[in-house]
Amino acid sequence: MQPKHPSESLTTLTDLVLPSETNPLNNLFGGELLARMDRAASIAARRHSRRITVTASVNHVAFNRSIPLGSVVTIEAKISRSFKSSMEIFLDVWIEDRESGSKTKANEAIYTFVAVDETGRPVEVPPVIPETDLEQERFDAALRRKQLSLVLAGKMKPAEATELKALFI
Ligand SMILES: CC(C)(COP(=O)(O)OP(=O)(O)OC[C@H]1O[C@@H](n2cnc3c(N)ncnc32)[C@H](O)[C@@H]1OP(=O)(O)O)[C@@H](O)C(=O)NCCC(=O)NCCS
Repeated sequence: MQPKHPSESLTTLTDLVLPSETNPLNNLFGGELLARMDRAASIAARRHSRRITVTASVNHVAFNRSIPLGSVVTIEAKISRSFKSSMEIFLDVWIEDRESGSKTKANEAIYTFVAVDETGRPVEVPPVIPETDLEQERFDAALRRKQLSLVLAGKMKPAEATELKALFI
C-alpha cells in the first residue's frame, strides 16, 4: 500500500461555543468538545484510509484550559501513525483571541480509529511517513500508546507490551 504523509489527513474544524453547549460556569461542556474532536478525528482517519472508520478508543484527553462561551474553537486532527487496520489520530485544540486573533492551545487528545469494510470487519490501511520533528515524535511514541490502550482494554497481556515496559526499565 502506498504510504501517506500526516499532512494528507489534516482536518481543521472551526466553530463557536454557543450557550446550549456550556456548563453552569459558562464554559464548553467536556462532552461537547469530545464529540467535536471525534468528528474531526473521524474525517482525518477517513482521509488517510479512504475507508469507513469507527472510533475504537479515546486514549488520552487533557482538559487543560476551560473554553468560555463565545470562543472560536479550532480543532486540528492529523494521523500520527497507522498499524494494520488501526490509526492513531492526534488532536490539538486552539482558542482564538477575539481582538488579536492569536491562537492559544487549550487542549489535546489522542483517539484510535479502525478502518472497516461494509460488514464492519477491520481492513488494512496505508502506512504513515512523518515529515516534521513533531510528527516523528508522535509517530515514535504511538506503539507504546497502542500497547497501553490494549492492556487497559484487556486485549493484550502486560507481559506482551514490550515497548511499553521498556519505558519503565
Ligand atoms: C473497533 C473494532 C472494529 C475492532 O474490532 P475487533 O474485532 O476487536 O478487531 P481486532 O481485534 O482485529 O482489532 C482491530 C484493530 O483495532 C485495534 N484495537 C482494538 N481495540 C483497541 C483499543 N482499545 N485500543 C487501541 N487499538 C485497539 C487492534 O489492535 C487492531 O489494530 P491493528 O489491526 O492495527 O493491529 C470493533 O471493536 C468495533 O466495531 N467496535 C465498535 C466501534 C464503534 O461503534 N465505535 C463508535 C462507538 S459509539
